[in-house]
Amino acid sequence: MALSRTEKPKTTRGQDSLKPGSLPAHVAIIMDGNGRWARTQGLPRVEGHARGMDVVRLIVEECSRLKIEHLTLFCFSSENWKRPQPELDFLMQLLGRYLVSERKLLAEKNIRFGTLGRKDQLPAEVLGEIEETKRLCRENTGMGLSLAINYGGRGEIADAVRNIAKQVQLGKLTPEEISEEVISSSLYTAGIPDPDLLIRTAGEMRISNFLLWQVSYSEIWVTEKTWPEFGIADLQLAFQDFARRERKFGGLNS
Ligand code: IPE
Ligand code: IPE
Ligand code: MG
Repeated sequence: MALSRTEKPKTTRGQDSLKPGSLPAHVAIIMDGNGRWARTQGLPRVEGHARGMDVVRLIVEECSRLKIEHLTLFCFSSENWKRPQPELDFLMQLLGRYLVSERKLLAEKNIRFGTLGRKDQLPAEVLGEIEETKRLCRENTGMGLSLAINYGGRGEIADAVRNIAKQVQLGKLTPEEISEEVISSSLYTAGIPDPDLLIRTAGEMRISNFLLWQVSYSEIWVTEKTWPEFGIADLQLAFQDFARRERKFGGLNS
């Protein structure tokens, strides 16, 4: 794990110096620090979330431009319900607004769209906007965008185990047939390769219940910058650092 905030891009040619072959295929981001950013600006926490939404737009567009295959963004965790009701109301409203306002970009950039997480606790309006966005994007063939909303890694594994148990109960699967592949394909991320690069903003060195199964061999990159401060240059630093990592997957040097 590296705190790369002091590193400078290797060239001055910006993101175009990144070779397509060295880019991560799947990037997952824990977008953290909205509240801290707002506090440093003397603003209410929710202003940090509003600013964070602008950064989401920027990063989605840039990843699509760079032809990243898949981008997963942690928007709201199953543990975030512990927050005060006014903040929750604001976050849900913001999500609904984001889903409506981003449809144009998703269409223009041919972005595939999906969500990860339990639907049950989400307000009907948010659910409606998710379904409508999925419908509008269903013919798209470009970058995949997954928004993790009411998502928890342990809950995801519990849901997968429940579904597998039902298959066994119905006689469709034997216990011996339960493999890593069966588990992977029972997760919300079925069909999506594991993240190559996991980015976390705002400096915390923890996973916070994000993609527990899927990040077993992801490269982790943490920046001190909060999410509202994060920009294309930071994404570029993360990608440059990723390109220098030696991935071994438990084996010897490649
Ligand atoms: C991340 O920012 C957004 C969500 C978790 C919804 P935070 O709201 O967690 O910001 P900090 O960590 O309190 O600064
Ligand atoms: C993780 O951030 C969840 C999201 C970014 C949506 P948190 O702010 O909830 O994580 P903790 O509480 O600091 O671990
Ligand atoms: Mg936080």
